[in-house]
Amino acid sequence: MKRIADQGRDGFYKGKTADLIVAEMKRGNGLITHKDLEEYQAVWRKPIVGEYKGYKVISMPPPSSGGVALLALLQSVEKYPLAQWGFQADSTVRAMVEAERRVYADRATHLGDPDFYRVPVEHLTSAEYNRSRMANVSLAKATPSDEVKASVFPGYESEQTTHYSIVDKYGNAVSLTTTINGSYGSCVWVHGAGFLLNNEMDDFSIKPGTPNMYGLLGGKANSIEPGKRMLSAMTPTIIEKDGKLKMVVGTPGGSTIITSVFQTILNVLEFGMTAQQSVSAPRFHHQWKPDRIDVEAKAIREDIRKSLEKDGYTIRQRGPIGRVENIVVLPNGKYQAGADHRGDDTAMGF
Ligand code: DON
Repeated sequence: MKRIADQGRDGFYKGKTADLIVAEMKRGNGLITHKDLEEYQAVWRKPIVGEYKGYKVISMPPPSSGGVALLALLQSVEKYPLAQWGFQADSTVRAMVEAERRVYADRATHLGDPDFYRVPVEHLTSAEYNRSRMANVSLAKATPSDEVKASVFPGYESEQTTHYSIVDKYGNAVSLTTTINGSYGSCVWVHGAGFLLNNEMDDFSIKPGTPNMYGLLGGKANSIEPGKRMLSAMTPTIIEKDGKLKMVVGTPGGSTIITSVFQTILNVLEFGMTAQQSVSAPRFHHQWKPDRIDVEAKAIREDIRKSLEKDGYTIRQRGPIGRVENIVVLPNGKYQAGADHRGDDTAMGF
């Protein structure tokens, strides 16, 4: 303390204290050197400022997650009558815990040193965002943490096959899927170029009877030949009625892309679902071989499952199928959007 009082930062990061720290490092096989100590700089950060019910809250910004998470928590519980429920009352505890679960899920993905990582502070501390984050909270039942994921904010890029659907205010529509076959493609990084090589070769049929990573079979039509393009299942789709835009839809999902788009279209045109319902509804899939229906949980009612199995269908339950993005134009010209809860998808701007 005396050395810091006399010499300021140099009383700690240089001279005797620094020597003692480095000696201690050597004794314990530590890593900190004189250079590390000399180079360390304390940084002045602008405090994070927000509001809770008219109170101004001033707290610590990144690299602490504290201020961001605190504001998010306060905004998340703002709508609940906590004072009326009372201190640590049943509902009070539930509301606070559900807020904490969601905020810490975002913390795990989005917070880090802002000198190294773009922390989406504005989104995480937006009252509107935190209100919407609590929209699916039930005070009657815990949300399993496995069902709570970090949100996705603009600027995010998927490392997988990706689909987006867009309509502008004039009705111009884009349905776009870009693909690789597996996460991170071939996992080969082109040194110095900033991108990975894909593994689209797997979408060719390497020989009759040998499936690709999605179990798809093929023959001569999709065999590997110089200059040939591999067969994709991408299904970016636009639907019109009497020359007017009706739907913009698509998804990743390998072999299940086609059947996911098929079901989503039927969900709207035949079963009267909203855009969100059409995307959220459980899906099933059959691709000839293997000869079975792959189903998401609750995709097929128990009595119907039994009847199908009796009549020769094999049914296998699997994890989520697809990540569909659907925009539906309503009869009054308004746009309705559905983003898939199976992934990290978002609908914006409508
Ligand atoms: O083009 C295709 O059909 C495949 N490359 C799609 C792969 C895919 O969607 C991976 N998704 N999760």
